[in-house]
Amino acid sequence: MPIEPSTIAITGKGGVGKTSFTALLLKALLAHTHKKILVIDADPAANLADVLGIPLQTTVGQIIDKTKREVEKKPDFYDGGALLEFRLWEDALLEGPRFHFIAMGHTSGRGCYCMIHDLLSYMLGNIQSFYDLILLDMDAGLEHISRNTKRELNLTFLLTDPSQMGFNTVRRIIELAQELHNLMGKFLLVGNMFSTDKDQEKLRRLTDVLQIPLFGVIPRDENITRMNLYGNPLMDIPLQSSAYQAVDCALITLIKEMQLL
Ligand SMILES: Nc1ncnc2c1ncn2[C@@H]1O[C@H](COP(=O)(O)OP(=O)(O)OP(=O)(O)O)[C@@H](O)[C@H]1O
Ligand SMILES: [Mg+2]
Repeated sequence: MPIEPSTIAITGKGGVGKTSFTALLLKALLAHTHKKILVIDADPAANLADVLGIPLQTTVGQIIDKTKREVEKKPDFYDGGALLEFRLWEDALLEGPRFHFIAMGHTSGRGCYCMIHDLLSYMLGNIQSFYDLILLDMDAGLEHISRNTKRELNLTFLLTDPSQMGFNTVRRIIELAQELHNLMGKFLLVGNMFSTDKDQEKLRRLTDVLQIPLFGVIPRDENITRMNLYGNPLMDIPLQSSAYQAVDCALITLIKEMQLL
């Protein structure tokens, strides 16, 4: 029976390549499937749009701020909830030719990120049925995982670079998920920026210890460095580049082995 991973999260330590991987995975998914895909940048820093080459007009956080200001000025006139809901779908959802995109961003001033988290859960609940696949590029913190009490993910890509900190973060995420009775669905490990055999051996040992399957190993790729330097979207990375090839091959294997997608 095919597995239908409708909601896929990409997570891991800060700077391990979550956003870059999200872009490469999206490119490979678009090449191999005809699924309706929504990509959500759940990182308050909101830089996935640049990496995908999407002109970002506004984020969910900015829409919350704007709506709050207006409702505070004329509380009797506006229904804050209804106005927010309308603007979320009207302004935050960007319709590209082959996928849709939402950036969560952050609200202004001090305060917690919980409103964004709650809104993300609410939005996912409402839109999950409109898409075949939702890709979530998560922020580096573990807060989103401990807050993830309502939302169920079907598949989580755990990224690590060749560092003990990266490995430890993977371990911690798995422990947290177990505490939450695994609301993060199936796990797949991804090694990013692994270039030497010795590093790859360490990664394989980690998969044995944690008993999670390895999705793939992505090498450090000069194309990514160069495209990043010149601000070119990673969606334009050459098909023959080593990082894209690694993601593409791993996705094809996954589709075959698991009857995925
Ligand atoms: N395979 C790779 N080869 C070369 N450079 C890479 C590779 N993957 C990522 N990078 C670079 O590493 C840096 C961090 O990548 P990225 O922003 O994707 O990480 P992140 O996990 O999303 O970070 P954050 O936690 O800040 O959101 C970027 O400069 C990116 O261009
Ligand atoms: Mg990122």
